[in-house]
Amino acid sequence: MAFREYKIGARMFGIALGSSMVITLYMPSLDISSVGSTEMGLRKGLQYGRVSGFSLEDPFLQGWGKPVTVILRKDPNTGAEIEPIYSYVYEAGVPFTSAVRHPRIMGEGVKDLSLDKGMIGQASESDGAVFIVSKGDYNGKKFSYIENATVTKGWTTDGVMNAAASTKDIKRIGAGKIIFVREGCWWCHTLLPEQTQDWQAFGSPPRLGDFNSESPTALGSDRKAPDLLHVGSRNSSREWMTMHFFNPRLVQPHSIMPRFNYLWGDVDVDGNKIDLDNWQTEYAAYTSGERVYPPDVPIPAPDSEAYWLIDFVLNLK
Ligand code: HEC
Repeated sequence: MAFREYKIGARMFGIALGSSMVITLYMPSLDISSVGSTEMGLRKGLQYGRVSGFSLEDPFLQGWGKPVTVILRKDPNTGAEIEPIYSYVYEAGVPFTSAVRHPRIMGEGVKDLSLDKGMIGQASESDGAVFIVSKGDYNGKKFSYIENATVTKGWTTDGVMNAAASTKDIKRIGAGKIIFVREGCWWCHTLLPEQTQDWQAFGSPPRLGDFNSESPTALGSDRKAPDLLHVGSRNSSREWMTMHFFNPRLVQPHSIMPRFNYLWGDVDVDGNKIDLDNWQTEYAAYTSGERVYPPDVPIPAPDSEAYWLIDFVLNLK
């Protein structure tokens, strides 16, 4: 190779390396707090808790150390009826979401309101706390912010859990997201409708401020199945989800989605033992035409991974 060609090659390589370095080193230094967190971003962070992926608190991705989302229909202190609101219960020891730990990532306005009016600086991980999302004014602009209801309203974690009208109002969305990450749903599904005709089928793309406190995001990569960012808006049926996760072929005869029946655990909601082998035998009899109906799908117990996963999926609205 002539020396001249070598020199051109070396320069081209230099340019390529230089620009990739700019992207690698400069991009992460963009200040995320310049993007104010949206209400969606605050709620996501609060319901998922701290790092909801490969974290020290939950090394085996079991859904440990996660907050619980409780829909409140009455005031936990007085018992008086209130407009239903979403509250995020962090039992003692459950790590707070990053927005509460590092308020600056919420951006100006949201951060200030959360600290001044929301008193999140007074929340203590070792005592536990209950958070809600409120709205307020900062410099003449409206923002959603995080309120530490344990200080502002005197709501305790036990008080809020007991005030839930039924188990249906207690949602383990944070634990469910772990199952979504662990089970690799993102190999096939995205949580990222694109700026194309995707809108019509899957709803609007997320905004930048929707992610300020979420880690990891599960945007997915290569889409082999429907986008799920707003799946709870088009299909809110717990029954359908239950059947589909147990065996997708029950509702979509040619589905390529795997069965997730092992997430049910040992017993169903009534404490009856789940016998997957027997179920499979009866299902085989159904697919070969010996039975008219498929066997019943067990209803998952509220402390099963299947239940948490369904909580997470139905909450994607
Ligand atoms: C091998 C690819 C694959 C994997 C892995 C997978 N899915 Fe699916 N999923 C599909 C396909 C394909 C569909 C379309 C409907 C069908 O065929 O069942 C679907 C449909 C769905 C739907 C209904 C979507 C709608 O638009 O109504 C939900 C919800 C869903 N999957 C959730 C999950 C979750 C949660 C996981 C992980 C526990 C998962 N999927 C793993 C392929 C997959």
